Amino acid sequence: MKLLLPTLLLTSMVVACSFLQLSLAYTPSPPVGGVCDSKCEARCKTAGYKERCVKYCNVCCTKCRTCVPSGTYGNKSECPCYRDMRDNRGRPKCP
Ligand SMILES: *[C@@H]1O[C@H](CO)[C@@H](O)[C@H](O)[C@H]1NC(C)=O
Repeated sequence: MKLLLPTLLLTSMVVACSFLQLSLAYTPSPPVGGVCDSKCEARCKTAGYKERCVKYCNVCCTKCRTCVPSGTYGNKSECPCYRDMRDNRGRPKCP
């Protein structure tokens, strides 16, 4: 049974690697975050629930390659991805 140890090692490496890729996939990269922060700050300047607005805006911005519509509302046709994102009740997710 000399093959058991290398096989185990290899298997655990593959598993560890796929976990790493999963966590990387869900972590927004810092440069994108910075751009989104400032764009969402502008987008949510007049929002009533500003923190919530910024939070959702950031999610959308990150998923839509930093595209955030200009102005504090509307203009969503500038970013089809942003416009079309829905929450789990089917309502528009992005401010
Ligand atoms: C669209 O964006 C412009 C700025 O680029 C802004 O002045 C205008 O108010 C926005 N439109 C709406 C409906 O918010």
